[in-house]
Amino acid sequence: MKSPDELSIRAAREGDLDDVLSLLIDADLNIDGVHESLGSFVVAADGDQIVACVGAEAYQFVALIRSLVVQPDYRGQGLGRRLVRQLIDRFASRGLREFYVVTEDADGFFKKRGFKPCDRDEVHPQIAGSSELSNASETAIVMRLQMLS
Ligand SMILES: CC(C)(COP(=O)(O)OP(=O)(O)OC[C@H]1O[C@@H](n2cnc3c(N)ncnc32)[C@H](O)[C@@H]1OP(=O)(O)O)[C@@H](O)C(=O)NCCC(=O)NCCS
Repeated sequence: MKSPDELSIRAAREGDLDDVLSLLIDADLNIDGVHESLGSFVVAADGDQIVACVGAEAYQFVALIRSLVVQPDYRGQGLGRRLVRQLIDRFASRGLREFYVVTEDADGFFKKRGFKPCDRDEVHPQIAGSSELSNASETAIVMRLQMLS
């Protein structure tokens, strides 16, 4: 197993789909729409093996971050933080300034990244119809990051 600094963090390719789906299924995360949005995913690869991923549903002004998972052996070494930073930087360079996430257990992780809880009826209209949001359980927390322009 390589140290996190030696892993390659890169845009997902079509051939990564099965590994990404396995990671998500093992973590009990929703896989609906992953294939369609794979082009937005950032992955960490240890050789041929995908060991972490994050994706987003991106709209004109906002993006909904989804499907963040780091394989258990690789957790606690800053990999999740690096993936989320890279994903946000990519969209910020395209002018997006508002990011959302819906999470059951990782609110503490996203709080450290500057996200704040937000009421479901306050989300940007562009993500209001997202299946990730409408399929979220009652107990899931919606969080928002608003970047300065
Ligand atoms: C949440 C997850 C992606 C974090 O990945 P990771 O690589 O272990 O996280 P990092 O090592 O980058 O952690 C960065 C910081 O967040 C903290 N952190 C990590 N997971 C956390 C959590 N669940 N709650 C609170 N803080 C957390 C770390 O302690 C670290 O803090 P520091 O900056 O003060 O050192 C990983 O635990 C995971 O895959 N969980 C299961 C799937 C999941 O819940 N995904 C979220 C779906 S929205």
